[in-house]
Amino acid sequence: MKIWAISNQKGGVGKTTTAITLGGILANRKFRVLLVDMDPHGSLTSYLGLNPDEISFSVYNLFQDRVAGRMLRPEAYVVNTACEGMALLPSSTALATIERLAGVGGMGLVMANSLALLKDQYDYVVLDSPPMLGALMVNALAACTQLVVPVLSEFLAVQGLDRMLNTLEMIARSRKVSIPCTIVPTLFDRRTRASQETLEKLKLRYGSRVWDQEIPVDTRLREASQAGLPPSHYAPASRAVQAYSNLTDHLLQNDPPTG
Ligand SMILES: Nc1ncnc2c1ncn2[C@@H]1O[C@H](COP(=O)(O)OP(=O)(O)OP(=O)(O)O)[C@@H](O)[C@H]1O
Ligand SMILES: [Mg+2]
Repeated sequence: MKIWAISNQKGGVGKTTTAITLGGILANRKFRVLLVDMDPHGSLTSYLGLNPDEISFSVYNLFQDRVAGRMLRPEAYVVNTACEGMALLPSSTALATIERLAGVGGMGLVMANSLALLKDQYDYVVLDSPPMLGALMVNALAACTQLVVPVLSEFLAVQGLDRMLNTLEMIARSRKVSIPCTIVPTLFDRRTRASQETLEKLKLRYGSRVWDQEIPVDTRLREASQAGLPPSHYAPASRAVQAYSNLTDHLLQNDPPTG
């Protein structure tokens, strides 16, 4: 089982959109996919038609079970989605309280340990992270076999990126694994100076970690979210889905051989 974390501590850069689109594309390619919503705002959960304010079981329960010393049983909290081959481990608003437990020993590995129990059930897990470098993002970084960092194609996009990448390196060192990382320029508009300049700046600073293509601005993505369907299912021929499909190819090639 491979685990792709979609993270960036900046808000509104396309993390959730990337998670649902990659998930849909992987499901279309007949992989068994589990989406995990680790954002207390629950955007991915709402996207798929569930209300994070009313949900009874979610990622939160994994942390609660860990604190209470109970056995982890992630399968009890997974729900099916309307898309074949795509399941969801939803978020709930209670997840916001987890950040307070950041200092409690062993809490950083709750997601990694939970997903390890599901390794025979899914081929790919896609983790959607919250826009902050806290306990939940650390859990995502500690669980993933590959990291995808969507970066908005506009000025100031690189702010905070170093801190997150340093944290990833620290976690990777302690796990004694190398975690491939791909920086993905999102909401790219070829005609604007901001998009072009950001791309140049990213390439200068992060070199080969920057994907050599971009995700274009595409209104079909917003329509898909309003329809509650993965863009891959709602608008398979759209420019953005084509770009995400190329990104999927790239990530599949980057997957470490084991895990
Ligand atoms: N390529 C794109 N073209 C047009 N709109 C997009 C694109 N990618 C994302 N969006 C839109 O931009 C908004 C922010 O995207 P998204 O929710 O995926 O970001 P996020 O990083 O998950 O945000 P947050 O940090 O709040 O969780 C959404 O309304 C989404 O539909
Ligand atoms: Mg989001």
